[in-house]
Amino acid sequence: MDKLVIDGGYRLSGRVPISGAKNAALPILIATLLASGQHTIDNVPELVDISTTLSLLGRIGCPSLVAEPGGSQKRGRVVIDTTRIAFREAPYDLVRKMRASVLALGPLLARCGEARVSLPGGCAIGVRPIDQHLKGLEALGCRFELTGGYVHGRADRLVGAEIHLDFPTVTGTENILMAAVLADGVTRIHNAAKEPEVADLARFLRSMGARIEGEGTSTLTIDGVPALRPSREPHSVLPDRIEAGTYLTAALTTRGDITVTEVDPRTLEVLVPMFQAAGATVSSGEDWMRVVCDERPQAVSVETQPHPGFPTDMQAQWMAAMTLAAGTSVLRETIFENRFMHVPELMRLGAEIQTRGNESVVEGAPHLTGATVMATDLRASASLVLAGLAAQGQTQLLRLYHLDRGYARLVEKLGDLGARVVRVADDVSVPVGSIQAAEPSDSRAAG
Ligand code: UD1
Repeated sequence: MDKLVIDGGYRLSGRVPISGAKNAALPILIATLLASGQHTIDNVPELVDISTTLSLLGRIGCPSLVAEPGGSQKRGRVVIDTTRIAFREAPYDLVRKMRASVLALGPLLARCGEARVSLPGGCAIGVRPIDQHLKGLEALGCRFELTGGYVHGRADRLVGAEIHLDFPTVTGTENILMAAVLADGVTRIHNAAKEPEVADLARFLRSMGARIEGEGTSTLTIDGVPALRPSREPHSVLPDRIEAGTYLTAALTTRGDITVTEVDPRTLEVLVPMFQAAGATVSSGEDWMRVVCDERPQAVSVETQPHPGFPTDMQAQWMAAMTLAAGTSVLRETIFENRFMHVPELMRLGAEIQTRGNESVVEGAPHLTGATVMATDLRASASLVLAGLAAQGQTQLLRLYHLDRGYARLVEKLGDLGARVVRVADDVSVPVGSIQAAEPSDSRAAG
């Protein structure tokens, strides 16, 4: 296994291109199951979760190919052939690796009238049930049995319905949406998730012939159609607002000057007042955002909320910045019940944090000190990277596979910003101070 070794304490500065959003690409790739034929999706990020999704589609009988970048061909094109569905199943070995495999339920039920999907079970950040997914699909006419750790769904015919979600679940809204596009009549999903990734899925479905209104609001209205067809133009996946937010937060932890490019700044709006309150200067243009932080950041409390609130997927990274801030901040997590696993690891770097229930109180420290740390989930790992970049001395982050699920070309992108970071096998030792700053990859390519 690999680890990340960071010689911390250097200011990061420069530009970093942001990849397509993992959480938009996953439902979009799975939504191709809804229409027989060949689909082309662009700006798909190079992540382990994407490989897992393509394996899932392969098991279902739909081969895919990741196009090589080069010439006019941009990075991240995936072509999927969904002509034949051989198996209507998302097996345990894939769902275990990636909970989002549960998104196969809606499309398989809509296209084939049957789906067997392994129950995801709990995960490091909480119980995460799928009752709302099932409730919505049942309202459309699906019947479910739970046997052998699988939900087995059947539907002779899907019929539009009024669905009221108890909570605006992101993948739940997506699952129901993907079934409703092929139901007879009109479906309204009330208290739907408003996340930009749900809206991107809606746009993709519309490009395949679906009739959807209200994406980005809490009511989605879907007028079912008898069949969909592959989109005529390749769909380009929305930029990843969480990846962008993570790099911008590195400007706070390292008192840096970071510009994220190829982003949609509208999806980052909620972070702007937070950066400003922390004392940073924020500017943005059509597809970029820059955060400059020359002084020690100020403490800023946050509470996670469904979109357009502060995203739970940024809470751990924000906490990393707050461990170094002047003053005390309170971080309240309202989406997941167990999302503070980064706390004891940040404390190994010298952070002062007290957690009570769903609140963590962070007493900012003037500096952190490098240590060996490991994380149990993706965003906790990102938080430890941000802290490690700021910490004096060397930080080693074990269990790197979590980061591979959500951060494309992380070492290269951090290197371009001036970070001293390498990825090596777990048993390799890297002397402190021996990591060289990389030449920007642009100049490497030019040379
Ligand atoms: C998605 C994102 C994840 C993000 C989360 C919240 C993907 C692939 N993942 O996860 O990165 O952290 O949204 O923004 O897009 N819940 C129920 N019953 C359900 C469904 C959810 O009780 O049927 C609860 C969950 O346990 C959790 C809360 O609702 O406490 C939010 O979960 P949800 O929005 O469903 O998250 P995911 O879609 O799993």
